[in-house]
Amino acid sequence: MTSVWDKTVSIPVRESLPGNTETDVVVIGAGICGILTAWLLAQEGKRVIVTEANVTGSGQTHHTTAKITAQHGMFYDKLVSMVGYPQAKEYADINRRAIGEYERLIETLRINCCFEKRPSRLYTNTQAGEAALQKEKTAALTLGISCEYERLYGLPFPAKAALTFPNQAQFNPLPFLFRLAEDLTIYEHTKVLCADSHTVYTDKGNISCDTIVYACHFPFRNFPGYYFFRMHQERSYVTAIDLSGRFSPLDSMYYGIDADGLSFRQYGDALLIGGQGHRTGKNSTAHRYQYLEQRAREYWPGCPVTARWSAQDCIPLDGIPYIGHFSSKEPGWYIATGFKKWGMTSSMAAAMILRDLICDKESTHGKVFSPDRPLYAPAFHTLGAELKEVSIALSREFLSHPREKEAALSDLDRGEARILTLNGKKTGIYRDDCGHLHAVTVKCPHLGCQLSWNPEDKTWDCPCHGSRFDYHGNLLDGPSQEGCQISCSIKS
Ligand code: FES
Repeated sequence: MTSVWDKTVSIPVRESLPGNTETDVVVIGAGICGILTAWLLAQEGKRVIVTEANVTGSGQTHHTTAKITAQHGMFYDKLVSMVGYPQAKEYADINRRAIGEYERLIETLRINCCFEKRPSRLYTNTQAGEAALQKEKTAALTLGISCEYERLYGLPFPAKAALTFPNQAQFNPLPFLFRLAEDLTIYEHTKVLCADSHTVYTDKGNISCDTIVYACHFPFRNFPGYYFFRMHQERSYVTAIDLSGRFSPLDSMYYGIDADGLSFRQYGDALLIGGQGHRTGKNSTAHRYQYLEQRAREYWPGCPVTARWSAQDCIPLDGIPYIGHFSSKEPGWYIATGFKKWGMTSSMAAAMILRDLICDKESTHGKVFSPDRPLYAPAFHTLGAELKEVSIALSREFLSHPREKEAALSDLDRGEARILTLNGKKTGIYRDDCGHLHAVTVKCPHLGCQLSWNPEDKTWDCPCHGSRFDYHGNLLDGPSQEGCQISCSIKS
């Protein structure tokens, strides 16, 4: 599963932490949020160390569709009614500033990362969608965002009307990331095991520091902060097709607001088609890539598929990222998470807010993102749904589906996976294309929910908070910090 961005860069190798040391700030996570935060802090004279369990940019940054936009789906109308005008304006302003900050950095550092200004469009094919776009337009204009409602004609895919934000942007995130990373101290293959107020403990040594920034997508610490209560994760899928010589490139970024709506953006000759999102650990529908490729054949016939990949997004209860102090109990800890599908813009917004907070700079932005904000009314409903999901996934651990008892290993076809009760323990079994069996324990190491199989990526995923594991049981995504390997061997 390689994204179009992976093919464009060769990744420089970094050393691991050589032993115990000290610094001003430790940033956990070398994705775009961690790197931007570290870079801005370093510009303020802070000594910064970035730790990364894998390699730089190996998390969600290389799976993004890399849109830099303040248009975050249908959000501003809801946001104004939820938090009021001043805080909704804060949200809009910082995201608009983030676009300008990308442009400034890319120009100043002369980074060749295919940065292009493009309009961003929310589009619909339904009357209800048109009415909703009109409301969204009113909210956006109130917040000072220039935008336009338009009828659409002549696009290759069905789209009747759109709300357009001009002067948004798109780029290739990896050259940008690696240029900034050149200026930083980053220790790769250095896994953070735990932290206390002023020390980060890793598998390669300990780092004493004044400040710790959690920029690791979903924080692995459950307490304080309780972020596992306040977010879930979702997966979505992307297919790239080659348009060259057959069709004109799209001039805008598009995001569908109807059920099963797709997103589109151009990157050179490649058109990225995204969608088919679902809660991580709940993919009974399957065939997500096939769906995208069918739509591609329908709208752009004859264009070959050149890449496919999937992404994982943290979704906060109220739809607003958590950026600021991790918890009142740990004044030296900071967090940036819950970016939904807008990780590029939110990362820059987070880096600016955290820089200002950590350096005691006058910051006019950030209150709306504060992790200790109240639980707004719409978030109560989401919290109820969350608790239900978690209860179901936890109870599955103790209940058996009839198939789990009856099925035998010999029933498993190649490419198929199932949960079976073996030696009295629930076990996830996958038979690969060569007929070999691979077993994992399906009790999630994070908090014990039962994992489920995702046939798209051949992974075991947790429906509670979104941890993911490959079919050998190796950890792919947190908040779990451990894999779910099993010690017994299974005969085919
Ligand atoms: Fe929390 Fe699995 S990710 S229980």
